[in-house]
Amino acid sequence: MKFKIKRFNEKNGSYWQTFEVPVRTAMTVLDGLFYIRENLDNSLAFRASCRMGICGSCAVKINGKPRLACETQLSKFKEVKIEPLDNFAVIKDLVTEFEGFFAKHKKVKPYLINPKISYENPVEQIQTPKQLKAYYDFTLCIKCGACYSVCPAGATLESYLGPAALASAYRFNADSRDHGKEERLKIVSQPNGVWRCHSAMECSEVCPKQIEPAKAIQLLRRATLR
Ligand code: SF4
Ligand code: FES
Repeated sequence: MKFKIKRFNEKNGSYWQTFEVPVRTAMTVLDGLFYIRENLDNSLAFRASCRMGICGSCAVKINGKPRLACETQLSKFKEVKIEPLDNFAVIKDLVTEFEGFFAKHKKVKPYLINPKISYENPVEQIQTPKQLKAYYDFTLCIKCGACYSVCPAGATLESYLGPAALASAYRFNADSRDHGKEERLKIVSQPNGVWRCHSAMECSEVCPKQIEPAKAIQLLRRATLR
C-alpha cells in the first residue's frame, strides 16, 4: 500500500514522500509507520507509545481526518496520506509541539480543589453512581490533540484554551468532590475561554474517545451565566 507522508525538517522545509508498505491482516497505520522507519527510512519521525489508544501520542491526520494511528486499520483504505496535526507547530515530520497544549490544560486547574483534604491525611470521598456519571465521560480524554487540530477558534487565536482544556475544566467542575468551580469559571470566562468557541462542533466529531468537548463548552457557558 502507498503511504504518502508529509515530511518536514529545518534544512529542507516541507515536502511529500511516498513509501510502498507491504500490508498484513489487521495492520494499523502505526504498524506501517514503524515498517517504514525500520526498513525504508530510519529518519522518519513520529510519536507513539502505548500502541493501544491510551497514551494519545500517535494522533496524526490520516486521509484528511485526525485519528490515532495505532487504532486506524489499513484495511479501511486503498492508500494513506499522513500529515501532522493542524493547529500545532511541526517539529519534525509528524512530530508536533505540544507544550502550549499542555500549558493550556494547566491553566484550567485540572485537579480536585478541596482545601479541607490534604495528601498527608487522606479521607475517602464517597460518590453516588449519579455523581460519578455527571463527569465520567470527560475523564476519558487522552490529550491526543485531535480536537484542537480541527478547531477554527484555535486556528485564529493562539491563546484560545481549546476544546480539550475546556472539557477538562468541565470535568472537574462537575465533580461533587471539587470546590474549585468559581476559580475555574473565572478562568474560562476570559476572552480566550468558552465565549471564543465558534460552535463548529468539529471537536466532538473527531474525538477518538467520543468525548464531546463542544457539549462541555456549552455547559460551562451556561454555568458562567448563573
Ligand atoms: S477531547 Fe478527545 S480529541 Fe480532544 S484531546 Fe481529549 S481525547 Fe483527544
Ligand atoms: S500509541 Fe498510544 S494512543 Fe496510539
